[in-house]
Amino acid sequence: MNSLETRSICVLFAADSFWEEARVLAIAEHKPGPGFVGPRVRLRPILESDLPILMKWDNDPDITRWAGKRFEDDADAREWYLARRNLQRKTFAIESNEHGLIGEIEVINISWRLHTAELRIFIGQKELWNRGLGEEAVRVLVSGFFENTTLREIFLKVDEDNLRAQRCYRKVGFRHKGRIRFCTSTGRGGDTDGDADGYAHGDGDTSSTLVLMTLTPETFRR
Ligand SMILES: CC(C)(COP(=O)(O)OP(=O)(O)OC[C@H]1O[C@@H](n2cnc3c(N)ncnc32)[C@H](O)[C@@H]1OP(=O)(O)O)[C@@H](O)C(=O)NCCC(=O)NCCS
Repeated sequence: MNSLETRSICVLFAADSFWEEARVLAIAEHKPGPGFVGPRVRLRPILESDLPILMKWDNDPDITRWAGKRFEDDADAREWYLARRNLQRKTFAIESNEHGLIGEIEVINISWRLHTAELRIFIGQKELWNRGLGEEAVRVLVSGFFENTTLREIFLKVDEDNLRAQRCYRKVGFRHKGRIRFCTSTGRGGDTDGDADGYAHGDGDTSSTLVLMTLTPETFRR
């Protein structure tokens, strides 16, 4: 390939990235649109006034058991939630028509080159679990990203014992792709669908298993 061809490809890639960035920034600024509103929930930007309730949920063991504890302190949470113009992740508040702020949903680890991203969600108002609101929020987010960006695969990792979340994701069309055995004492993980031993060795080692699930526009149930 000569230098002109290389330069042309770079220019094409840059142009592609420019439009991708424009689309993502529109999402980042959370311009409300049909893609981010469902019958019962809508996704909107996180506001400063949401932080106390989000911090309360980040300290709730019933939620962190499945979603993980994320923040050391308020400053940490503020930095995560209120930082704008990040092209590798987008976080939304889930607001229900009836109950106001009910949880949070985000895509992280976005790769615009591979067209993939990871999804995370929790419904903080526990009394609202099992009413289809998680399913709707996931559906709204996924359809917004598939329709407005070039993302073509959304994946997630869910605890093997978290049957509620797995059921929620399956309803939207996520499919089981594999298992990751994770050693909680060493923090190491490995893709171990074919390797039952994983990384847990020796006395005191504990392991947990995460299920990897993925969704594409073809498997998405609208
Ligand atoms: C996971 C979560 C986002 C799902 O949201 P939700 O609104 O509760 O989910 P939905 O109501 O859409 O779907 C849950 C489904 O699981 C089913 N379910 C509940 N408990 C179940 C169990 N023990 N085994 C199997 N299915 C179960 C429900 O009946 C429902 O299925 P249905 O609609 O066919 O009846 C929410 O429960 C939550 O935030 N949990 C705590 C944090 C968490 O787990 N986050 C995900 C980390 S990967």
